[in-house]
Amino acid sequence: MRLTADANKLGPFAFMAAVILTAAVSSAAEDVVTIRQADMKAMAAAAMTISGMFKDPSAYKASEFKWAADTIRDRSGGVLSAHFASEANNPAGPKSKAGPNILKERDRFDRIANDLRDYAAALGAAAEKNPGPMTASMRMKPGEAMGGGPFGTHVRNQQELSAMPAEHMFHLMLQTCTTCHTRFRME
Ligand code: HEC
Repeated sequence: MRLTADANKLGPFAFMAAVILTAAVSSAAEDVVTIRQADMKAMAAAAMTISGMFKDPSAYKASEFKWAADTIRDRSGGVLSAHFASEANNPAGPKSKAGPNILKERDRFDRIANDLRDYAAALGAAAEKNPGPMTASMRMKPGEAMGGGPFGTHVRNQQELSAMPAEHMFHLMLQTCTTCHTRFRME
């Protein structure tokens, strides 16, 4: 409505400028959606790579494990949060499944994104510590308690994290993905 009113007052040039501007703004928002969805897919592929190595430890290669962990680390934390930073891209139209509550629950969203980064960084460090074959210390002990629940995956401190077997970190990391999706991604 405002566009039409302005166009009436200012003539066809202003109207065209307004149309072009609107198109530019919405395509910028769509680009953010495309980027963040591509990042999410890259993280999913990286998680599959790591998962495959825990399923078949003979497939473990420290460099590939580390690369996959870094892929997630570099797309989480502040990088992830920034892709959901403004009214313009939350929600961003029919292509996006981002929940409308992200801006209102900013702190919680950011904390989960940071937890993801902390787990991914710790996984990368575990790969550096284990350059040869996958060691028993990287694996969970049978019956090891997993933690969990909606708040159970929050990283309380780095010491606790580095004392954990990498496989345990990995499962908590996957729960972090799920925790965020359950709350902030629409079906
Ligand atoms: C802090 C919140 C958060 C975390 C953590 C998170 N995601 Fe997401 N994810 C989202 C949101 C929100 C969307 C919907 C984005 C959209 O459609 O605009 C999404 C979408 C996706 C998608 C669909 C992408 C598409 O093409 O539509 C995949 C796959 C995905 N996430 C995988 C993961 C994996 C794997 C992890 C963990 C390694 C993860 N996500 C961690 C919030 C998160």
